[in-house]
Amino acid sequence: MANIYFSSPVLEKNRKVVAVAGSRDTILKVAKREGIPVPHDCEDGECGNCVVRVTHLDGYRIKGVMLTPKEHAVLEKLGLLDERDEEQAYVNDIPPVHRLACQCVVTDEDLLVQFSGKPRNA
Ligand code: FES
Repeated sequence: MANIYFSSPVLEKNRKVVAVAGSRDTILKVAKREGIPVPHDCEDGECGNCVVRVTHLDGYRIKGVMLTPKEHAVLEKLGLLDERDEEQAYVNDIPPVHRLACQCVVTDEDLLVQFSGKPRNA
């Protein structure tokens, strides 16, 4: 089980959602199931509309959920993945702060997911 806290100016207040570990659900799938309006379009890691900021709340045991190639390409195109982020991801197995909600799979970690509420095209 993981607690996912969604925060956005478009929400009246932060929303806490319990996600089932091992379900392989993405952040976007969890948000849609709970009626949380994370902007999205393609749902396939190509448009960049679903960018969210993810904070791992269990800091000492961050799980390295690796970027998919599509996610890497889109985040880089948006200027949201710099050299330091890449080194952290591929050398130290620490995921970057910005993720695509449609690509980032929820594990058993508690997360804070922040989003603007506006789509961000690549
Ligand atoms: S919805 Fe298009 S990249 Fe996630």
